Amino acid sequence: MKKYKWSVAGLTAVLSVGLLAGCGAEGDAPPEVEAPADEPTEEVDENATTGDGDTLIMATSADYPPYESVELETGEIVGFDIDIAEHIASELGYELEIEDVDFNGLIPAMEAGRADFVLAGMTPTPEREENVDFSDIYYEATNLIVTKEDAEISSLEDLDGLTVGVQLGSIQEGEAEDLAEEIGFEVEKRDRIPELIQELLAGRLDAILMEDTVADGYMESQSGLAQFEVPSEELAGSAIAFPKGSELREPFNEKLNEMIDSGLMDELIIKWFDTEE
Ligand code: ARG
Repeated sequence: MKKYKWSVAGLTAVLSVGLLAGCGAEGDAPPEVEAPADEPTEEVDENATTGDGDTLIMATSADYPPYESVELETGEIVGFDIDIAEHIASELGYELEIEDVDFNGLIPAMEAGRADFVLAGMTPTPEREENVDFSDIYYEATNLIVTKEDAEISSLEDLDGLTVGVQLGSIQEGEAEDLAEEIGFEVEKRDRIPELIQELLAGRLDAILMEDTVADGYMESQSGLAQFEVPSEELAGSAIAFPKGSELREPFNEKLNEMIDSGLMDELIIKWFDTEE
């Protein structure tokens, strides 16, 4: 198995973690000081800001199982997106290095030249397309409302006057803001999904608007949660994001489609989502 150099280890998974200065340098130990994700340090080693030709730097937000999360025992970032990235990178003859950045900081990090691509269950939107180029969609998802089972919230209307959490910078943030106007609830934004789950369980949030696949995982690992679909929700998908004009987009897209055609993508979907869709 390939060895990565992490900018995050084990229990720091739920914290905001910055880009690892000198990430192209040798050494697997996490840095002693980590900058907050949204304020990447300015004195990053020039040679370390993106891959060196043999290595590609992928930025992700490892708070999103089964797409990407930090395995507690090993501190490794694992998931569906990681397997995809690893496969494509190796097919194209690159080593892969992964940086963990809060979701809201992913596109800025890439625009600042600190990553070659972003793979983070990210949905292509017209706003994002102004700043990045997307691959084809590799997996589709819809949004759900997750609540505590005993809250007896079973429709959007029940959220009137309540508080709904979303991940900062996600498409769910925009969705929730639109729904909030119609229905009349408060929208609370957090950097990381586990923060939202904790606050829901603690009663500080009444509900979370999140993606079905990620919600399903939490429903299984956490008792006392309930969910319902958001009606008339359009299908949203995940795609790989590249800096505008990146030459990587084409070869990545080819390999991505090869994975879909060969059935490898279905294998990964079964491995990580336990379902074939
Ligand atoms: N698909 C949603 C979006 O693009 C949420 C993705 C969140 N990803 C993550 N790794 N936390 O906005």
